[in-house]
Amino acid sequence: MEQTYIEDIAHKVGEEVLICGWLYNRRESGKIQFLLIRDGTGVIQAVVTKADGEAFEKALRLTQESSLKVRGTVREDARAPGGYELQIKDIEIVQRVEEKYPIDLKEHGPAFLLDHRHLWIRTPRQTAILRLRHEVMQAIRDFFNERGFIATEAPILTPSACEGTTTLFEVNYFDEKAYLSQSGQLYLEATAMALGRVYWIGPAFRAEKSKTRKHLTEFWMAEAEVAFFDHEQNLKLQEELVKYVIGRCLQKRARELKELGRQTESLERAVAEPFARITYAESLEIINELLKERIASGEVEKLNWGDDFGAPHEEALGQHFGRPVFVEFFPAKMKAFYMEPKPDNPDLVLAADLIAPEGYGEIIGGSQRISDINLLKQRLKDFGLPEEPYQWYIDLRKYGGVPHSGFGLGVERLTTWIAGLEHLRETIPFPRMIYRLKP
Ligand code: 4AD
Ligand code: MG
Repeated sequence: MEQTYIEDIAHKVGEEVLICGWLYNRRESGKIQFLLIRDGTGVIQAVVTKADGEAFEKALRLTQESSLKVRGTVREDARAPGGYELQIKDIEIVQRVEEKYPIDLKEHGPAFLLDHRHLWIRTPRQTAILRLRHEVMQAIRDFFNERGFIATEAPILTPSACEGTTTLFEVNYFDEKAYLSQSGQLYLEATAMALGRVYWIGPAFRAEKSKTRKHLTEFWMAEAEVAFFDHEQNLKLQEELVKYVIGRCLQKRARELKELGRQTESLERAVAEPFARITYAESLEIINELLKERIASGEVEKLNWGDDFGAPHEEALGQHFGRPVFVEFFPAKMKAFYMEPKPDNPDLVLAADLIAPEGYGEIIGGSQRISDINLLKQRLKDFGLPEEPYQWYIDLRKYGGVPHSGFGLGVERLTTWIAGLEHLRETIPFPRMIYRLKP
């Protein structure tokens, strides 16, 4: 008999099906047992009574997370979790768990759960988050593919920095030093000059030494790069992408969002309304005004020209606007070496960060890239970077340089916001953070 997945159970009412999965929980009351079975697509309640004979005896032996195959008939039952119930005919135990399963159904602390992440990911809440992540990833791919972008790749082992030298992971590369990529951007600029419009979703590595809710040392970024594309077009593309991804999750993952207890008003608003847009200069005024009491009491730092936002500053902005807000035109010194200056004020750059509402912080960083070769060389110098490893990158300005722009979207940041989570670490199967390399 072919396996039926629990997510398809609504189409099978009255039929006999085979469910293959794991025992999530078992309750018994005298002559009847209720098994909660999960299969990765959902959870279903299965019922077996003493009159069922052998199946009842087998069910009695089932322990949490034992793997099993269950044959039974699907019934609609409003009282059952999920609205359907399986009347068991037959049970095959694939592997009975002999030891007590480490994660029981009571509360565990975060350290314990993270140590058991390989098992923690089986719980309904975690599977809902990981299915949401899948939807985010898939929606990003669909968005770019529908628009004619070419999916490409960038190397992970690189000879030089993209996003500053303070967060580089160094590795031995035979007789040379290499670094794990902080961003595929520089390579995507090259492929954009070959293919016009490119994107990828790839891992990024940053030796982030701070312990925050928003930083992983290994995370996934969706990056796009477009030739003959300016700052304005760049922001428009980003807004369309974020709206598309959120819209898709609202439409296709309503069950997961409900399971996570997510109130979706702010997501619906992000899809329906234009994103807000302010300059960096304006953002300082707005933030300092919004936080003036906490600044006066010394609880929060006042922002001065050139300061990066901290978590409270991003939270204040997010709360103030209630929808995503682009902050644009940062001082060149604050940002990376490759950003195009603003024509009417070369101390600023044609860059923007997209800040999510509800305290979720920066989800996108993007910019127009320098297209002038001499300016690029000057910037490398200003930033104390050697020219040699960037020679190929400089070449892009020598051979048919064009204005071009792109951005990087943090997949875990966006997923955290959509799911409404406290911490980024639950949105990736195996999070890597300063004190966490295992499992
Ligand atoms: O703003 P960032 O550093 O921009 C870049 O790396 C550009 N080179 C991207 C580009 O233009 N192609 O990073 C982009 C996004 C951030 O907005 C944030 O969402 C996410 O990546 N991000 C992180 N996510 C999790 N943990 C970290 N340590 C992150 N650092 C950045
Ligand atoms: Mg950034």
